[in-house]
Amino acid sequence: MARPKANEVTCAAVIGTGLIGGAWAALFLSRGIAVRASDPSPQGEAHLHKIIDRAWPVLERLGLAPDADRGRVSFFKDRREALDGAQFVQENAPEKLDLKIGLLADIDAVLPPEIVLSSSTSGFLPSRLQSQCVHPERLVVGHPFNPPYLVPLVEVVGGEKTEQWAIDWAADFYAHVGKRPLKLKREIAGFVANRLQAAIFREIIHLTKLDIASIADIDAAVAHGPGLRWAIMGPALTFHLARQTGIEDFIHLFAGEFNTYGLASGDTVVDADTYRRMVEGTHAEAAGRSLDALSKTRDETLIGIRQLLAGKDLPD
Ligand SMILES: NC(=O)c1ccc[n+]([C@@H]2O[C@H](COP(=O)([O-])OP(=O)(O)OC[C@H]3O[C@@H](n4cnc5c(N)ncnc54)[C@H](O)[C@@H]3O)[C@@H](O)[C@H]2O)c1
Repeated sequence: MARPKANEVTCAAVIGTGLIGGAWAALFLSRGIAVRASDPSPQGEAHLHKIIDRAWPVLERLGLAPDADRGRVSFFKDRREALDGAQFVQENAPEKLDLKIGLLADIDAVLPPEIVLSSSTSGFLPSRLQSQCVHPERLVVGHPFNPPYLVPLVEVVGGEKTEQWAIDWAADFYAHVGKRPLKLKREIAGFVANRLQAAIFREIIHLTKLDIASIADIDAAVAHGPGLRWAIMGPALTFHLARQTGIEDFIHLFAGEFNTYGLASGDTVVDADTYRRMVEGTHAEAAGRSLDALSKTRDETLIGIRQLLAGKDLPD
């Protein structure tokens, strides 16, 4: 079978139909892609339909593709049948390394080599996942955020044996179904977003251990503070706006004042090359937008977010 163009996929297989697999299935259906699904659990098919039921009204509000049809989903007890004719495969089995290595090898053994095989793993290295595959070159990680039908981010990561065409094709496919793909330059356990989340979770544990603040207050420190800004443009560009002279000045502050507070640790020493890449990267992201323009956009968007949150049943 020839691999279709990433924006011409008409049939995808979803292996494992729990929380994440069911959500991928709903998203693909909403983009007009037929889904062939499989799960060994006796409840697998019922779970799949439950998640599609939950996702579909959300997807309708976001806007369906003209040929979207939630009825174009088929469930197969036999995984091989689900893979038959699939032009892309998303694996969503439980986060157990040995299970995934074996399952991906089984899928790889019957799937034509030109078809991309993507794992939803939350943090395993693709080099490990592809270790038993005969065609490791087409295996990628496509790590979503829950719920994948609503949160745009998907991290696309290749292993040592993955070829660039598979990474590029997967990223193009995810963009086609409305995701915001993030291609890692190389693999690292936990990828980018979960490493950022882990850094914050480490501090929650630390602050709780020291009994500095209640859990509600630690949460408020994000939800009523930086979290509002992170929804708009991410932490690096947000820091760029924290100083009159941008990120260059902020890095000096971090290396100086923050260090005095004891907030910077050994591995956050900014050497000359890292400094250059952080400054150049932030300016590349700003892409000519001035500090004033970005600050204005931030402020206008914050008004909208605050208005949206007002009156919701949420902690203070
Ligand atoms: N839950 C999240 O927030 C989240 C977010 C991103 C990525 N992920 C990743 O997605 C994957 C699935 O997580 P989940 O939360 O949907 O788990 P889940 O427990 O809801 O679903 C897992 C499904 O896999 C099925 N399964 C068990 N053995 C299988 C096998 N051999 N072959 C195929 N299917 C099998 C189970 O019956 C179940 O339906 C994991 O790798 C997880 O790390 C989860």
